[in-house]
Amino acid sequence: MARITAGIGSSHVPLLGVAVDQGKTGDEYFGPIFQGYEWTRTWLETTAKPDVVILVYNDHASAFDANIIPTFAIGCGDVYKSADEGWGPRPVPDVEGHAGLAWHIAQSLILEEFDMTIINEMDVDHGLTVPMSMMFGAPAAWPVRVVPLAVNVVTYPVPSGNRCWALGEAIARAVQSFPEDLNVQIWGTGGMSHQLQGPRAGLLNREWDNRFLDLLETAGDAARHIPHIEYLRETGSEGIEMVMWLIMRGALGHAVTRLHRHYHIPCSNTAIGHIVLEPA
Ligand code: DHB
Ligand code: FE
Repeated sequence: MARITAGIGSSHVPLLGVAVDQGKTGDEYFGPIFQGYEWTRTWLETTAKPDVVILVYNDHASAFDANIIPTFAIGCGDVYKSADEGWGPRPVPDVEGHAGLAWHIAQSLILEEFDMTIINEMDVDHGLTVPMSMMFGAPAAWPVRVVPLAVNVVTYPVPSGNRCWALGEAIARAVQSFPEDLNVQIWGTGGMSHQLQGPRAGLLNREWDNRFLDLLETAGDAARHIPHIEYLRETGSEGIEMVMWLIMRGALGHAVTRLHRHYHIPCSNTAIGHIVLEPA
């Protein structure tokens, strides 16, 4: 039987992909950011060893654009290539999918009345590849298979935190009913506070971000009820990406144990954070 053994929330800042690709992860600027991921990298390699990651992220107008805006899309293909975001595709390995598990999750979710968009072919952008680089460095091949789960957090209306949490709960049920013996993790990416454009560009909110991390570790399902307007006011226009962390958190059940937590300001124009949680 497949099971979700852990969840990770993490920012997916594109500049960090550049740092990995250009070998700058140890310099004065990037060093403190990457040091915060060292615990997680070691844990993944030596202890956690997931077979598959359900990687919740958003596409940033790479695979989708204003012509097609799926609220929730699941990648059911065998392989995904790194998207060209304007400077050529990142030099990272192809991402190997898990079509069997992905189709099973899609069926389970749709029969539970979550109207997923099924994607068989797409390129994946920094929302997916940067967390892979943060967790696994720069290997010749990624050590896990990935089920990409793309969420629209770019074009209003985006899904509520409550809906995201409920989707996470349904994903956990879907994984549990998959007969193959698989160690599955779920990652939620994006955030933390940041606004990339407009008069408030550069907005960061250390206090709010840390309260959000506190809520994820300690407060049952309280975080699911944070309204959109609070993310926008307190964490900037792109802070809304954090609703994707709630899909991860919803999949872990009521109580969790925190294994690791890291927060750093600034990283590019954003606050970067990550948290590693296990179902209690
Ligand atoms: C940036 C882009 C992102 O998608 C994000 O989540 C954080 C930062 C950026 O362009 O700096
Ligand atoms: Fe983003």
